[in-house]
Amino acid sequence: MAQIRKVGVLGCGLMGSGIAQVCAQAGYETVVREVSDEVAQRGLSGIRKQLDRAVEKGKLAAEERDRIMGHLRGTSRLEDLAECDLVIEAVVENLEMKNEMWRALDEICSPEAIFASNTSSLTIADMAAATRRPERMVGLHFFNPVPVMKLVEVVRTIATDPEVFRTAYDFATSLGKEPIECKDNSGFVVNLLLVPYMMDAIRALEQGVASIEDIDQGMRLGTGYPMGPFTLCDFVGNDTLDKIGAIMFEEYKEKRYASPPLLKRMISLGYFGRKSGKGFYDYSQDPPRPMDLGI
Ligand code: CAA
Repeated sequence: MAQIRKVGVLGCGLMGSGIAQVCAQAGYETVVREVSDEVAQRGLSGIRKQLDRAVEKGKLAAEERDRIMGHLRGTSRLEDLAECDLVIEAVVENLEMKNEMWRALDEICSPEAIFASNTSSLTIADMAAATRRPERMVGLHFFNPVPVMKLVEVVRTIATDPEVFRTAYDFATSLGKEPIECKDNSGFVVNLLLVPYMMDAIRALEQGVASIEDIDQGMRLGTGYPMGPFTLCDFVGNDTLDKIGAIMFEEYKEKRYASPPLLKRMISLGYFGRKSGKGFYDYSQDPPRPMDLGI
């Protein structure tokens, strides 16, 4: 495989910081770019906290934590990604925002560098088209929490060079992940199936089929899922689910991807899930209590 030594990560939010962490853990020099140096440093502190917790639990040696942190650097300048062999984008699901970065990086990075997106629902071809290197663009879709979840969807477009795809696939393996190969359709494999499932759970709740707790318990105990659908909605973020669903609905025009009215009302009121303290559950309680959503 073509040699990857230095990785750039765009965005240091929930997904970007997890991606940066696993890259650094695997020994890659990793540069994380955020909108300001302060936000980048905040992201790196979050990674440090995760690693500190692992050290406290006796799962990671303190020297190993220091080695990992030594591979990580934060920046606000896209120019600092000039020497990266691979750039992985993990910013918000906004095609124009992503493409603005890709256009800039197309000028900054070596023509050999591979560009990868962690998009959940946009197509990779729509980003590849914004660059002069469509054959060097792939999807590398990670799952939350990135350090724990084994899967990476490796996505090839109709323009991806097979050798670039192979390098990206091997890169995912080198992170200790178990990749699968996907076509460039909106939602790839997992979200194609997972998003309608989550939307259906909300529709079942709207229809009064069962309570939040009972639907969650049903799917946990009846199918062995680690989380029920409402716990998962709150974990992924209801605002994120709504955005992904809207992009997939736009692509397929199928109702199963459309946000149910309840989800839209929850978003208007800021019930985003764990990150806002309220979603289908109220996280100010321990353990979290199901919300009274008037159903
Ligand atoms: N970050 C890092 N590590 C975490 C973590 C986090 N947010 N949450 C849990 N962990 C670690 C814990 O530290 C623990 O590690 P050790 O075993 O080394 O101590 C391990 O994960 C297990 O954690 P817990 O025992 O606390 O809890 P658990 O056994 O219930 O597992 C879980 C937690 C892994 C999140 C599990 O509930 C799960 O797999 N849930 C489903 C997650 C899922 O479906 N993710 C995909 C969402 S969809 C997506 O991401 C794609 C998209 O495009 C929207």
